[in-house]
Amino acid sequence: MYTQSMSVPDDSASRSVQPLVSAEPAERMARFDACIDADGRIEPQDWMPEAYRKTLVRQISQHAHSEIVGMLPEGNWIGRAPSLKRKAILIAKVQDEGGHGLYLYSAAETLGTSRDQMVQALHEGKAKYSSIFNYPTLTWADVGVIGWLVDGAAIMNQIPLCRCSYGPYARAMVRVCKEESFHQRQGYESLMVMMRGTQAQRDMVQDAVNRWWWKCLAMFGPPDADSPNSVQGMRWGIKRVSNDELRQQFVDATVPQAKLLGVSLPDPLLKWNEARGHHDYGPIDWDEFWHTVNGNGPCNKERLATRVKAHEDGAWVREAALAHARKRQQAALKEAA
Ligand SMILES: [Fe+2]
Ligand SMILES: [Fe+2]
Repeated sequence: MYTQSMSVPDDSASRSVQPLVSAEPAERMARFDACIDADGRIEPQDWMPEAYRKTLVRQISQHAHSEIVGMLPEGNWIGRAPSLKRKAILIAKVQDEGGHGLYLYSAAETLGTSRDQMVQALHEGKAKYSSIFNYPTLTWADVGVIGWLVDGAAIMNQIPLCRCSYGPYARAMVRVCKEESFHQRQGYESLMVMMRGTQAQRDMVQDAVNRWWWKCLAMFGPPDADSPNSVQGMRWGIKRVSNDELRQQFVDATVPQAKLLGVSLPDPLLKWNEARGHHDYGPIDWDEFWHTVNGNGPCNKERLATRVKAHEDGAWVREAALAHARKRQQAALKEAA
């Protein structure tokens, strides 16, 4: 997962377009532009404008943070999964998210920012991550709904990133998308089983869908008209499809899935529009979105505190690994002497 906040500046107080002023040598700039125009890939050793580099570091690190923080709401249910099978699936899924975070930190490091710097920015509350993880997982059905809808929205967002102009990010996304597909399917299948169960189980699924639906629509980020940074992202081949287009694709794909599952989506204005060839849907509460992005959602503080504690608790592992590496290096040097 998870990309909503990637179109959101880390300092979301200033959401304006930064004019791209470039004092870069014209020749290198022309080569860069030609590569982008030809739909080529920019690699770590290639020259790139500083604004392109900064945008990528921000986007990829926010994405990495989202994967890592995204482990928490579902990780909360590993000890309470209803069967050994569900527990094994959930452990695998949460572990995948950890892996996604690591690929993405590595991809961002190729741009010259260290993982320590990125993690520090997260822990100091300076870096954003997807706001969807600032909501609690109240019942077991939330785990299935996160797989179906949250991972489903993430896939919509991330498939175009496999064609991103920055090579390491694009390649990381190919593997991530394959794993996200498993996440979406396991969530949907788990909900299918619940919907064939008791009335109480069906009610639990419907309640979870009601709580997550609008938050998933907001995951695609602000409407295109309010996303001035997206234009530059599109120009650079970082962003391929606009927020509103992705949101529409998600709604259109999800409506038949909800029908098959036997749940309703909590939007009285949701209906097929023959003329547009798409579903119409009701207005999204952007005030709530920004409230949560800016740190005031129900779980923001808890999520960050959990991450900071995990990092501090793991300090001895990092120190021991470094000490071991040093010892091996010294031994190798001694042998070589
Ligand atoms: Fe993921
Ligand atoms: Fe996922």
